Parts: sequence; C-alpha cells; structure tokens
Amino acid sequence: MSSRIINITDRHCEIANNVATPLPIPKFKRYTIGNLRGGIGKTTLAFNLSYMTDDLLVVDTCPQGNLSYFYDPNFFLNNTTTVRDLILPYLVPGLGRASRVAKDISATNQYFSNKNSFYVASSSDLYLLPSQMTTSLNQAKSLSGSQQTMAIDSMLYSLRKEITREMKEADLNKCLIDTSPFFSGATHLAWHATDALIVPVRTDQQSINSLSLLIDVLSNPASDFSRNMPSKEHRPKIQLIIITHCGWKTTKGARNEPNQQTKVFIEKARDIVRRNITHFTTDNADNHILLLDDFLGTGRISTALSKPVFLLNAGDSRRIDRIKTTVNQSVEKIKTELSYISNSIW
Ligand SMILES: Nc1ncnc2c1ncn2[C@@H]1O[C@H](COP(=O)(O)OP(=O)(O)O)[C@@H](O)[C@H]1O
Ligand SMILES: [Mg+2]
Repeated sequence: MSSRIINITDRHCEIANNVATPLPIPKFKRYTIGNLRGGIGKTTLAFNLSYMTDDLLVVDTCPQGNLSYFYDPNFFLNNTTTVRDLILPYLVPGLGRASRVAKDISATNQYFSNKNSFYVASSSDLYLLPSQMTTSLNQAKSLSGSQQTMAIDSMLYSLRKEITREMKEADLNKCLIDTSPFFSGATHLAWHATDALIVPVRTDQQSINSLSLLIDVLSNPASDFSRNMPSKEHRPKIQLIIITHCGWKTTKGARNEPNQQTKVFIEKARDIVRRNITHFTTDNADNHILLLDDFLGTGRISTALSKPVFLLNAGDSRRIDRIKTTVNQSVEKIKTELSYISNSIW
C-alpha cells in the first residue's frame, strides 16, 4: 500500500470496524453538497445523510429535482412552491416574497415518519436562473455607491436569508443543500448560503477533473464566484471530499484494502487537497477524505423505493425493470460509513 494514503485507508478500516475516533474537524450547521459533474452521488448522499439526522432543512437546487422526487413521488405532478420562488423576488422587483415554503418530509415519504425534517422542492425552471442572475447583477452594477453594494449583497445572500427564515419558521437547526453539476445560478447562491462544502468525487478521472474545476471556481480571483463577491467577502471552506463508488480487493483478508482503481483516485484526490489545503477546514489533508463503498444493487433498490440505505438489509430483493436486484452484503458497511460521515459533520 502506498504510504501516502495509509492514514486514509487505515481510518477507513477503523470506520468499517466501528473503532474509529472522531475526525478532528470543526462542525457547521449548514452544508452544500456539490461538485461540477453529474452522476457522482450528490443526491444519493444528500438523501441518505438527511435520514441520519433530525431537525434538518433540505434544499433541492438541482433543476432535475431527483431529491425532491425522493421525498415526494408526486413532486413532478404538483405545482408546489419551490426554491425558485424563494429566490426570484430578489431578482425581479415587485414579486411578492414567499413564506413557509418548506414541507414536512414525513408527509410524503413514509420512511421519514419519525423525523422532524423539512425540504424545499426544486423547479425545472431553475435552468433559467443563471441568465436571470446575470441580468440583475449587471443592473445592480450600474447603480452607484451604497445602492450598488446593497443590491449585490441582497441578491447574493437571497437564498441564505430565505433559508434562515424557513429554518426559523419550522424550528429547524441544520441545513443541507443539494446542487446541480453547474456553478452558475442556484449553486452560486448555495455557496453563499452555507458555511462549508461536501464534495463527492467518484473514482474516475472526470470526477477528479471536476474537483480541480470546483476548487478553481472557489479560489481563482478571475472566477465568476470571486468577481461577484458580497461587500464582506464570503468564501465557504471545503469540509469533506467523499470518494464514492469505492471498490475493494477481493483477495482473502484484504476486505478493506482499496482495489487498484480506487487507490489511484484516492491518491489523486489527496494530492489536490494537499495543494489546496488553505481552502479546507483544517490544515491536514488526511482529515478531509472519506471513502464510501459502491452502492451496487443496494443503491438501485434504495432509489427505486425512495428508501434510505439505512433501512435496507442484506438479501432484501426486488424486481427493478424486470431484473431481480438484491441488497448486497456490503450494506452494513455502507451504513457504518454513512453514520461516520453524519457524525463528523453535525
Ligand atoms: N458510494 C456511492 N455514493 C453515491 N452514489 C452511489 C455510490 N455508489 C453507487 N452509487 C450510485 O450512483 C448514482 C449516483 O447518482 P446521483 O446521486 O443521482 O448523482 P448526482 O446527484 O451526483 O447526479 C446512483 O445511482 C447511486 O445509487
Ligand atoms: Mg443529483
């Protein structure tokens, strides 16, 4: 095993065996889950983490609305108030502000019946938000002095302000935002609405490239994010990189040793974290990389039933698209990994 990632893989073994000590990282109340690539596990992670805590506001800012669908199967049919209705009054003068937009998850997903958590649904119209934001930012920039500052601050902190109000109204104390693979629009506002980022990285080169891109958007003075700062600069830190779809060596006795592909991408991710450590919440790269097994059939069943992985058991099976699909033996390990992530962030 390469010595560079030994701390990360050793910790993973301890997590799998339930003997890991807590991660030495600070805790925050509000997180954005994001990376600038699709299909890497953002929504899956948001959904499962939302089940593992309580008194949580979840905000779906991805126009695809997959997370909203997990919470309410009728979401696509209903004409509900969405996150876009929270933001739009800050971009379009004269529109009325919304209130009590968040919905009780337990009302539409039976598996959340013992939870006191709420969610704000997404809207497919969020695809229009980037151009609406650009127009209003340009208008704001044409104002002078304190009017300009106030207009820009109001826009960039719109989602933050609305989330604070929703949390207060529903008496919630934590917030998790799921984002799209694109920075412009709602993701931009999500970064200003939260204290820290959780970044899923799948074990492939494109996901590693997206991590580099995300850090560039976050840190490069020439990026859209840096060039449109509120009057008092606000830049979230990265709390965790979650390497998703990890695979393990199958040789006897090596159950928690990453396979070659997984190992290569843990190393690449760690190199990027080390080079950009000032954008993380501590100064030690090994504190910021956690591993999550490939969900395999477990993930397909969880998705098909909108049922958190935590409630599935090895051997449960189900026909999905006429194919018999089974919850894998690794489900218990995945539960342990998810619990550790949840306990590390809240
Ligand atoms: N370790 C893992 N973490 C998250 N998703 C996983 C993992 N392993 C497999 N998957 C599967 O990968 C897919 C990720 O999709 P999704 O969460 O919708 O991605 P995104 O929101 O980034 O577009 C899901 O089908 C999920 O079951
Ligand atoms: Mg998604």
